[in-house]
Amino acid sequence: MTKPVILTGLRANNNLTIGNYFGAIEPIVRMARDKSVDYQINMFIPDLHSFTTPIDHGELYEQTLNNARVYAAAGLPLDNNDIHLYRQSFVPAHSEMTWILDCFTGIGEMGRMTQFKDKSSNAQDDRVSVGLFNYPVLMASDILLYDATYVPVGDDQTQHLEFTRDIAERINQQFDQNIFTVPLATKEQLAFFDAEHGLRIMDLADPTKKMSKSTESDRGVVFLTDSAEDAHKKIMSATTDNLASVAYDTTNQPGISNLLEILSQVRNQPLGTTLLEFQGMERYGDFKRIVADEVAAFLTQFQAQLAFVDGSAVESKLLKSEAAMRDQAGKTLYRLQAAAGLRK
Ligand code: ADP
Ligand code: TRP
Repeated sequence: MTKPVILTGLRANNNLTIGNYFGAIEPIVRMARDKSVDYQINMFIPDLHSFTTPIDHGELYEQTLNNARVYAAAGLPLDNNDIHLYRQSFVPAHSEMTWILDCFTGIGEMGRMTQFKDKSSNAQDDRVSVGLFNYPVLMASDILLYDATYVPVGDDQTQHLEFTRDIAERINQQFDQNIFTVPLATKEQLAFFDAEHGLRIMDLADPTKKMSKSTESDRGVVFLTDSAEDAHKKIMSATTDNLASVAYDTTNQPGISNLLEILSQVRNQPLGTTLLEFQGMERYGDFKRIVADEVAAFLTQFQAQLAFVDGSAVESKLLKSEAAMRDQAGKTLYRLQAAAGLRK
């Protein structure tokens, strides 16, 4: 019996932030641990997606390995055969399937993707790559190759997930065969992951913006690699407000609300509990110091765990998963190749 597949990928285009950690890595690792009895878990690093916009290619290989080590440091078991950890480019079927799907994808539907519009709007035409344009097709291949049903992603990715469903249905209809498993719609995904209110850690300097590893200024961004001192300073200088009363109010007090959220995450406790403790506190400096101390302690501990990760065990896991995935993905690719008339 094959198990239903839960699949997700996290790009390795820069150092990871505490937003990535608490918003994506930790929940995925927890889910992998909890659900691997009933589901196949695919966690992969979309290394081919990393340079749809320019990056430092000298860093990519190490960055990718480092992300895999971060998963291990966050508690991902490496000895579980139902959990697969792999790099996209090590399974060539991703690229091969993308070409075929490209030929069934309209220029119009790619041009309507908001991520494409956002990321291309400031650049001159010749500097916007075709890769950025058809990013969602590669993402559809990532998902469809493994017959994934469940795909936990942030809300900025839901349009890509809907496209994946569209192209899967289109191909199944066109060839009148069940070539692809259609992943669940976003609403059902949210219900499955109980993620109605996805976490969104905000930038410390501008708390109306998401904290992002791709932001130009890193004043408001805490990276997992930051020293405890640097992280402490960033939090102490976080933008707040002049209401002088700690409260959770994302409209009028986005900075303070964000610090409450961050503190809850590092303590691994519900926001309500944190709020009970600090609500009404008047001296923001004191509150910030508590958050800064606890984030600094979290980073020190996480960095120690990361240093303790057995790099060669992670690399063996990658190689083992990649071999298994080449096998699984190859079978799906073959179904499509046969339908398209490339194979008999
Ligand atoms: P970034 O904006 O840091 O480049 P990505 O867009 O590559 O991050 O997102 C990677 C994953 O991390 C996604 O699942 C996203 O939901 C999660 N994530 C990114 N930033 C945050 C944040 N500030 N708060 C919560 N989750 C986040
Ligand atoms: N596009 C996703 C992001 O930017 C990463 C990604 C690539 C992904 N392929 C995927 C996520 C397949 C889930 C499934 O966050």
